[in-house]
Amino acid sequence: MERTLCIIKPDAVKKKVQGKILQMILDAGFEIKGIKYITLTKSQAQKFYEIHRGKPFYEDLVEYMTSGPCIPVALEKENAVNDYRALIGSTDPAEAAEGTVRKLFAESKSYNAVHGSDSVENGINEVNFFFAEYELI
Ligand code: CMP
Repeated sequence: MERTLCIIKPDAVKKKVQGKILQMILDAGFEIKGIKYITLTKSQAQKFYEIHRGKPFYEDLVEYMTSGPCIPVALEKENAVNDYRALIGSTDPAEAAEGTVRKLFAESKSYNAVHGSDSVENGINEVNFFFAEYELI
């Protein structure tokens, strides 16, 4: 079993498509181990996206991720990291495959509806970033 972190981002929450995205995730066979509704602080967003610090889009990314509520979701499934990445599609919705979450709901490469962990190691670390063990069923 693998864990991966989904974040339903502020643009998707503002559009009220979080229910549709969660249904797609459940229909794809993922188990929701933890879920919460939060507004990230600036320092939380900076820390979560630390790896992107210094890139041209970093400041805008932090501003966007703190612009409203988002929904971190801890997911579990065999091959969760790759299967979830396939479900959400490419970072840029223009390049995302038909039927993927980002093709359906993302506005742009910046406002791209959902986050997904990019490796098994990051899946574990990112789930632990948002959830204490007692918050995971
Ligand atoms: P995410 O999967 O959350 O991981 C990093 C985020 O940075 C990414 O989704 C996008 O929201 C954003 N991002 C990545 N690359 C770019 C880019 N070239 N321009 C703007 N935003 C980007």
